[in-house]
Amino acid sequence: MAFLSFAKKKMVGLDMGSFALKLVELNPRKKGKETSYELMALGYEPVPYQSIVEGSIMDSTAVADAIQHVFYESKTKTSDMSFGVSGSSVIVKRIEVQRLSPGEMHEHILWEARPHIPFTPEEVNIDYEIIESPDIHPDRVGVVLAATKKEKLNDYLNVIAIASKTPRIVDLESFAVLNSVLINYEMYHNRCIAIINIGASITNVVIARNSAPVFVRDIAFGGNQFTDLIQKELNLKYEKAESVKKGRQVEGVSPAAVKPVINLIFSELKSEIKKTFEFYRSNTTEGRIDNILLSGGTANLESIIDFFSQEFDIPVEIVNPFNNIEINPKKFDLDFIREMAPVFNVAMGLALRAVGDEK
Ligand SMILES: Nc1ncnc2c1ncn2[C@@H]1O[C@H](COP(=O)(O)OP(=O)(O)OP(=O)(O)O)[C@@H](O)[C@H]1O
Ligand SMILES: [Mg+2]
Repeated sequence: MAFLSFAKKKMVGLDMGSFALKLVELNPRKKGKETSYELMALGYEPVPYQSIVEGSIMDSTAVADAIQHVFYESKTKTSDMSFGVSGSSVIVKRIEVQRLSPGEMHEHILWEARPHIPFTPEEVNIDYEIIESPDIHPDRVGVVLAATKKEKLNDYLNVIAIASKTPRIVDLESFAVLNSVLINYEMYHNRCIAIINIGASITNVVIARNSAPVFVRDIAFGGNQFTDLIQKELNLKYEKAESVKKGRQVEGVSPAAVKPVINLIFSELKSEIKKTFEFYRSNTTEGRIDNILLSGGTANLESIIDFFSQEFDIPVEIVNPFNNIEINPKKFDLDFIREMAPVFNVAMGLALRAVGDEK
């Protein structure tokens, strides 16, 4: 899936999150049928508070500055990039359409998509991916539709232009996290997995069976909810509340006071994820989920694995998007990568798209 034309050039994957920008550049190496990947560049740059709110750019100058910084610090030689969209800037729907001949499918899907997208064709860019699934009658095919509002996409393109970078590919963040998991973990190719990428303002949920996405939902929920409530309940400034959330010692704050606040938000998160799973189950004949995989900055919350495994009784793992990636220890800080790994899941998927080798 790509909303922009694809040109095979060197480029980086840039995850433009509301909390931080993440940059990954890969070099693919083909050995027979197998491709291996080497990390070429890595960048992390915090975004000034509220410059991006739930996927909408509020302060173009601040975001453009951050883009320039992250490219510069990463030492990449290219200014070409792929990026992702999520949240309110994108509408994702899964539909079924009649199977026609390959030559007729494109027009047919766009026509069938119309009633499912609550905007006029002039207002959106539409893309889709065809999903073959045993749940569907052989005369029909599943289609994941993705529509981005041109207005929102233009905001991103504008800020990238201000930063003097060239956007080449736009992908769904949910598809990026799935591609990253598939490249990094063979063992999940033939299972039904739920990847939950929990950022600051958005949680992407993607359920995939046999490596194909069968369900995608973005929830307007993330680490900000934890920070906000800690701020309010413990009467702290934003920075202090962030530190407390990350389990750091802050003067005058006892860990015992923090726990119930975190648990309260966890239970909200739980009901959102439960709703999502129920919705998925009600739409498929086989609703089993074998594994839950977590990523995003909020996956670093101390008790998150316990929370998810107790709640859903499914094995839970934190994604390491560098699991299968070669890293030269002379060029990169391995401690930093180990500590920050789950945060780079979207950027890794975008970097894979950028080299054109996504699964
Ligand atoms: N060690 C930690 N413990 C708890 N939370 C953490 C930790 N490290 C980072 N976070 C939280 O993770 C969030 C940032 O994650 P991430 O970088 O994935 O978000 P983002 O992609 O920038 O945001 P979004 O996509 O939601 O707009 C913030 O809410 C931050 O406070
Ligand atoms: Mg994010």
